[in-house]
Amino acid sequence: MANEKVRILGIESSCDETAAAVIQNGREQLSSVIATQIEIHKKYGGVFPEVASRQHIRTIYAIIEQALDQAHLSLADIDAVAVTRGPGLAGSLVVGLNAAKGVALARDLPLIGINHLEGHIYSAWVYPADTPNPPPAPQFPLLALLVSGGHTELNLITDHLHYRRLGATLDDAAGEAFDKVARLDGLPYPGGPSVQKAAAEGNPEAFAFPRARLDGTWNFSFSGIKTAVLREVRKIEELNRPIPVNDMAASFQAAAVDVLFTKTLKAAREFGVKEIVVAGGVSANKALREAFLGQDEFPVHIPPLSLCTDNAAMIGAAGYYHYILGQRDPLNLDVNPTWPLS
Ligand code: KG4
Ligand code: ZN
Repeated sequence: MANEKVRILGIESSCDETAAAVIQNGREQLSSVIATQIEIHKKYGGVFPEVASRQHIRTIYAIIEQALDQAHLSLADIDAVAVTRGPGLAGSLVVGLNAAKGVALARDLPLIGINHLEGHIYSAWVYPADTPNPPPAPQFPLLALLVSGGHTELNLITDHLHYRRLGATLDDAAGEAFDKVARLDGLPYPGGPSVQKAAAEGNPEAFAFPRARLDGTWNFSFSGIKTAVLREVRKIEELNRPIPVNDMAASFQAAAVDVLFTKTLKAAREFGVKEIVVAGGVSANKALREAFLGQDEFPVHIPPLSLCTDNAAMIGAAGYYHYILGQRDPLNLDVNPTWPLS
């Protein structure tokens, strides 16, 4: 190893965030820079893939430079480049992977392709480098609830990089459900934060939206709640009444959080895990965080808000654990837009 301290440059561009970060020894965040494209995609009501990849091309090198500057380092101080290889939008992933290859080739650094979902899980290991009392690392065996815009799954993790998928959504991802309900209620993109904001002013018991328990499995389903919201919206529109957006958002959020929380706790008991990790964009949700942090049966790790949605610190952290195990990918590595975690 070149240094006693292992520093990984993480690069992430799987969707609509261009991000780079430097992570030391798998947990210390020396820098994390994120350029979001939210304002650009807002007018389309969702991510426009071609526009996203063009925007990544425009910003990625400046973002990498900023991440190094913020860490007060140069590429000479970096031990490896970890980059999101998938899952995600092919055209977006290619930009990050090509940038990572360029850096790796130019500086003769190892290239490590990382699964984006694994990255989200490893966001629970990261803390700012200047933290006086670093938080303890998550302890194995642990259960990870991964809730993002594209994925919702429960994974049993017995050791670093050892995943067993217990279940996943059979239809919409949790974040996708938030985004679709926001659209039905006329709330702006991205839906998750809009629904959360509206829900804060609403009554969570105004509507009894269905909770798909899917007992006997560790799977989830969100299409039923979404359809129930649609049905209510139509009914109210036919009556020419204004849609009670806040009540609807609060009732939807309560149903979604209930299902995610209840099943995760049940699985944690069943598989006898020590701790729980909740990660991915929807882990930014206040009601979901309060549900998990409000129980004391299991210690729960939820990343800070800045690391819930897409970022590169999580890619650098996951990259470290692959690096110390000797993973090195070839420079002809390709993106894998549908790469499962396990
Ligand atoms: O992890 P992420 O940034 O991207 C993917 O890998 O998909 O997750 C984005 C998703 C979006 O669906 C967004 O609406 C949702 O996370 N999200 C939230 C909140 N913040 C972001 N959902 C609920 N409440 C939030 N506060
Ligand atoms: Zn993500």
